Amino acid sequence: MEKAIFTDSGQVTPTIFIICGVTGDLAQRKLLPALLSLYVKKLLPHKFKIVGFSRREFSDQDFRLFLREEMHINHNVYRPEDIHRFLNNIVYQQGQFDISTAYENLAKKLLHIDEVEFKQCSNKLFHLSVAPSFYETILGHLSNSGLTIPCGGNLGWTRILVEKPFGNDIETAKKLDILLGTLFKEEQIFRIDHYFAKEALQNILAFRFSNSLFEPLWNNKYIDCVHIQLLEKIGIEGRGTFYDSVGALKDVGQNHILAMLALLAMDKPDAFDAQSIRKKRANVLKNLLPINKNICDSVVRAQYIGYSEESGVLANSTTETYFQLKTFIDTKVWKGVPFYLESGKALNENRAEISIYFKDTTGKDKTNVLSLRIQPDEAIKIRFWIKKPGFDMETEAKTLSFHYKDFHSTDSIPDAYERVLYDAIIGDQTLFTSTDEVKYAWRFITPIIDMWKTTPLYKYKKGSRGPDSTDQS
Ligand code: BG6
Repeated sequence: MEKAIFTDSGQVTPTIFIICGVTGDLAQRKLLPALLSLYVKKLLPHKFKIVGFSRREFSDQDFRLFLREEMHINHNVYRPEDIHRFLNNIVYQQGQFDISTAYENLAKKLLHIDEVEFKQCSNKLFHLSVAPSFYETILGHLSNSGLTIPCGGNLGWTRILVEKPFGNDIETAKKLDILLGTLFKEEQIFRIDHYFAKEALQNILAFRFSNSLFEPLWNNKYIDCVHIQLLEKIGIEGRGTFYDSVGALKDVGQNHILAMLALLAMDKPDAFDAQSIRKKRANVLKNLLPINKNICDSVVRAQYIGYSEESGVLANSTTETYFQLKTFIDTKVWKGVPFYLESGKALNENRAEISIYFKDTTGKDKTNVLSLRIQPDEAIKIRFWIKKPGFDMETEAKTLSFHYKDFHSTDSIPDAYERVLYDAIIGDQTLFTSTDEVKYAWRFITPIIDMWKTTPLYKYKKGSRGPDSTDQS
């Protein structure tokens, strides 16, 4: 899709971006910096406003001062006048999420902006930047107060951005989906899994379907196994209460890791549009073989030493901060190919990567490996074998590689949240999770969680490669 650039003369309908929970970490760390970047790149509608909605008391002026302190702004990148102009587009509305007058006041504020500033009905994009336990309350009030109804018939749209986790298991996900479905049409709902918006992940489809070299090998005849890893050096970063109730499998396994798996394994879509791509991604998740027997053979779960002393974490917590799963996709193309999924916190490296191991046809353990590095140092690498110079027929492994950093700086990689917000404004749902994907991901994960507690919980040292299976708690 050709991307729109919203220049000063752009005719795009004015848009108000409403952030519920604007004083929180996500808004300060990701959403507002992404909006600032889009603003400076002129990738926001010319008439654009941000309304922060939260519980604390602020005047607009005090809120902007708060943002100057709290918002993650890279001052080496932006000119002070751009930051100043951006902040002037932000206003604040105080309100308790469970009180209906708060939404009436919010509605008045939005109407005032439309009537006095824009002099027309504007698009409304709501982002729930709050703990999932508030979703039901906020969605209900947004609906009751009429805020979810577009103000001008076909003129302005209303969309809602929801962050993962979408529910806590298959039942709660279903409940959330029903609630969303009663308040919004599917084309208004944008479920964020920011991994889809990572540049190197978007490249998977381009790489697979633009190079005839690889696609014929993309099946169980040639591929021996696939490893998908999301390894992090950071721990739980002050999110103890949330993380302890979730754990690694739900935090990143149910979403980011399965997003990588789906893109890697999906069939070629009939067209490269949102509907066709999401359908093929969902089909992969639908065909994941359930892990319900011999779970101990397929699962490793572990916790880093010192986790239970983190603030917000229960002293006797058995929440995992690391997992490894072995799973299979029950389709003709992938039957018998193990997919190893691994993620952990407080490890010795930061790396998100997919490695495809091809079958060794030499009988000499000479595997070709194709690695798709998602972050950091986004890259594609191929390990192949060559003859070493000399009189003997000895071979040695070499690597062909491409690094995104070799692109010119003008092609710098947009942050995933920039892409997410931009696509929500232009209404492209390709990089958002569909209701089927959510359903099938939970259908796969929920039985594992149900059996979780019967599997051993290994321990590992912070900053290590992960658990040593002999080091059981
Ligand atoms: C979030 C998880 O969804 O993804 C975090 O809640 C995790 O625990 C993060 O650290 C990883 O995302 P990224 O973009 O930093 O790789």
